[in-house]
Amino acid sequence: MPRQSGPQRSPIRADILGLPDQVFPPTPGEFAERLGDDLELRLLALNECPHPPSAQVIRAVAQAAKTANRYPDPQGRKLTRALAKRTGHPAEQIVLGNGSDELIFLLTLVTREEGAESIMPAPAFPGYRRAAVTLGAKPVTVPLRENGSTDVGGMLAAVTRRTRILFCAPVNNPIGGLMEDADFRRIIQETPPDILLVIDDAYHEYALHAGAKDVLSLLKARAGPWAVLRTLSKAYALAGLRIGYCLCGNNDLAQALLKVKTVFNVNSLAQAAGLACLEDNAYRDRILDSCARERQRLQNGVTEMGLASPRSIANFLTVRLPVPGQTVAAALARRGILVKAGTDSGFEDTIRISVGSEDDTTALLDNLPEILKDVAPPDAVD
Ligand SMILES: Cc1ncc(COP(=O)(O)O)c(C=O)c1O
Repeated sequence: MPRQSGPQRSPIRADILGLPDQVFPPTPGEFAERLGDDLELRLLALNECPHPPSAQVIRAVAQAAKTANRYPDPQGRKLTRALAKRTGHPAEQIVLGNGSDELIFLLTLVTREEGAESIMPAPAFPGYRRAAVTLGAKPVTVPLRENGSTDVGGMLAAVTRRTRILFCAPVNNPIGGLMEDADFRRIIQETPPDILLVIDDAYHEYALHAGAKDVLSLLKARAGPWAVLRTLSKAYALAGLRIGYCLCGNNDLAQALLKVKTVFNVNSLAQAAGLACLEDNAYRDRILDSCARERQRLQNGVTEMGLASPRSIANFLTVRLPVPGQTVAAALARRGILVKAGTDSGFEDTIRISVGSEDDTTALLDNLPEILKDVAPPDAVD
């Protein structure tokens, strides 16, 4: 049949065209150019590890680069076997992703159907909402409780017959608090068995370091499908190589993810780095110790300034301010310190500060009072 002529129609889906344009913040290099060479940039906006990967990892990446002319193992079998050994979870139910962010997208993709709803806390890691919106599912957001914890009752009350997937994080972003045991057990047991329960365990290593239980053992109580997401971006200092993994509650889910992912989603340098980092627990533990120390210094420092900051066990801290977070984040950025301003409803007066090196903490604590003096009303800060 001949094609009908008429006004030209874009082959791109109308709902994707209708999304706001993607605007990424300047890269650290662009920031450095703007600020001049004498300001040291302090990257405290993305919850990265301030320390470089271990020497063992760097050697493994250099070695893997020699065979970068070859495609990587599509399933990353050596790494999934190492992760199986580490977690006690069957290797065939572990799927690697280009960061856990990709896995959030794939989990939404495999559960998405016409009219599907995705339940998530707000604020939360933006990837849950982004995946829902770009895949045409409806994001259903449930505000955190007043104390910053996940409102498990609210999330369960938001379930409808259209809900396909529910996201929650034992350590939520941007607060960094640990979910109460009773809340966690409730969400595992009461999320209906036809809904995929996704436990985003990005800060797993930090939670264990703070004395929390491994969530995997608790998931035995779940009757329905589940997935636990973890990442090598944080405690293993590999954010730039993009590698996360999904521990799937059954074979069907693992197979579904393998069917829809791009074949070579995790590159060979990332796979080599992943294997090497798992062999160096001492290095990871030094990263976790340093984070706990600097987090405490940060928390003490902002408390002394009279600012409220809920307890965090992660590699970031949310701080409430007497002025909009954007104002303070912009002023800090002019001094070379990048933090994230809160934008969600009820969080506009916050900034989230990633825990950095000792020097990063000192710089932040030195600069923040001066900035607050400039921008805050005189009686707002002690
Ligand atoms: C809660 C949470 N989930 C997932 C991610 C994504 O991590 P990645 O894609 O680097 O594995 C992050 C990153 O900050 C996060 O905070």
